[in-house]
Amino acid sequence: MKYVGRVPKKTLDETPMVRVPYPPFDVLVARVGLRYYAIEDGCNHAGASLCEGFRVDDRVVCPLHAYVFELKTGKLLQPEELCDDQRTFVCEEQGNDVVVWDPGLLTIKGA
Ligand code: FES
Repeated sequence: MKYVGRVPKKTLDETPMVRVPYPPFDVLVARVGLRYYAIEDGCNHAGASLCEGFRVDDRVVCPLHAYVFELKTGKLLQPEELCDDQRTFVCEEQGNDVVVWDPGLLTIKGA
């Protein structure tokens, strides 16, 4: 996996969503419950930054056309099937930080 970046847990406790630079689309990192999740920040509909949208519980609402994505899975929840799900990244807790990894575009079934 490729290293993306590192965010202090304290920052994620105080901020609903944090953008980590990772060109070209960057990565959105958020705490949901007691765990940390990361999805692509650039909305796959038309490219808006989801970090500039707003958060409702475990969801993010895109600032441009108000599509709704689940933060844990990147899944598009509303409206259905008008764009793809957001790509997901791997979050690993290391001490006081959350380290974000890019698993690549290939997924292994059953992994
Ligand atoms: S750019 Fe995100 S919903 Fe259109």
